[in-house]
Amino acid sequence: MTRIETLAVHAGGEPDRETGALSPPLHMATTFEHGPAGERRAGYEYQREGSPTQDRLEQALAALEGGAAALAYGSGMAAMNGLLESLPPGAHFVYPGDCYTGLRTLAQEFLPERGISATAVDMADLDAVRAALRPETRLLWAETPSNPLVQVADIAALAGIAHGHGAILACDNTFATPVLQRPITLGADVVMHSTTKYLSGHSDVMGGALVFAARDALHDAVAHRRHITGAILAPFSAWLTLRGCRSLPARMAWHCANARALAEALQAHPAVEAVHYPGLAAHRNHAVAARQMSDFGGMLSFQLRGGREAALRFAGALELAINATSLGGPETLVEHRASVEGANPRSAQNLLRVSVGLEHAQDIVADFLQALDRA
Ligand SMILES: Cc1ncc(COP(=O)(O)O)c(C=O)c1O
Repeated sequence: MTRIETLAVHAGGEPDRETGALSPPLHMATTFEHGPAGERRAGYEYQREGSPTQDRLEQALAALEGGAAALAYGSGMAAMNGLLESLPPGAHFVYPGDCYTGLRTLAQEFLPERGISATAVDMADLDAVRAALRPETRLLWAETPSNPLVQVADIAALAGIAHGHGAILACDNTFATPVLQRPITLGADVVMHSTTKYLSGHSDVMGGALVFAARDALHDAVAHRRHITGAILAPFSAWLTLRGCRSLPARMAWHCANARALAEALQAHPAVEAVHYPGLAAHRNHAVAARQMSDFGGMLSFQLRGGREAALRFAGALELAINATSLGGPETLVEHRASVEGANPRSAQNLLRVSVGLEHAQDIVADFLQALDRA
C-alpha cells in the first residue's frame, strides 16, 4: 500500500478500536490517567508531550512523506523555528534568497540573537550554494518551489552538497506537498510543512509539521524541545488537518490542472511581462521540476507590464478570485506581495502571487482575462 492516493486515505485513519468509528476520534483530554508511580496506560500522560489525535496526524504525515517520524506544530512558523532553534550557538545555515518572509525574518532578526548566522543564496545555483558553505555550516534549507517566485531547487544535488559537508538538508515542501514531490526519497533529512495550506486544504486551520527521515538523535532533540517549549498542535486542529490529508491527492490534481490552464492563458496575454510557473517550458528550472516533481503545483506568480499601478488595478478588478494572503485552499487567492511585505518589500511592484483554487478552470481564466482588460 505505497501509492500516495491510498496512503492519504488510510494512513492515520484506521477505524477506532473501541467503537469501530471510521472518522478518527477527537481526543481533547489534556491529561491521561496513570498508575500510582506514573505508569502509563497507552503511552500518554499530558497533551503537551503528545496526544492520540496528534499521533494519528503524525503517522499520516510520516507515511505520506516516506519519513520515519513526524512532529506536528501549532503553525508552519513554529515547525520551522522548532528545527532552526535547535542549531547550536555558532552554527551557520544557508537558505534561499527567494523564500517565505517568515524564514528571512527568523534568519536575519531572531536567530542571530542566539549566535546562529545565515547566508541567503539562489538555491538553483549549486556553485553559489557551495561558495556559501563555511566550516560551521550545519544546515542547508531549501524551499522548493519557493514563495513567491516559484523557483525550483534540485533537492538531490543539495542533499549531496549538504552531506558532503557534514550538514543536513531540510526542505520546506509546503508548495509541492508529498503528492508532487517527496524530498526524503531524494536525500533530504527533514521536511517541513505549513499544514495551514494544502495539507489541511480548506483555509480553516493553522498548523505545521516536521517529518524526519530517521527517528534519530536530531528527531529526539527537536521532540524534546517541542515538549518543553509547548509549540504543539491543538487536537481539533490535528483532526481537521488529518481530514484534509485524506483528500489531498485528488485536490492537488485539480489545483495543478487549473494552475497550468491559468499559466498558459497569462503567458499568451500581451499585458503580462513574465509568468513564474515551473510547468512552463520557459521557466528557468523547468527541467529540474520535471525530473523531481510529478506535477507542477497550484501556485504561480506573474508580473504585469504596467508596473505597480497596473498590478493594483488588476487585483481590484477581480470578481471571482479573492485578494487575500495564504494559499492552498479551495478559493483562488491573489496577493500583491509588495503591499504586504512591510517597509522594504522584496517582491517587484508589478508582481502578483496566485494560489489557484478548485473552481472551474474556465471561470478562473475568464476572471483573470476580464481583470487584465481593465488593468
Ligand atoms: C512556503 C511557506 N512556508 C512556511 C509558511 C509559514 O506557515 P504558517 O503561516 O502556517 O506559520 C508559509 C506561509 O505562508 C509558506 O508559504
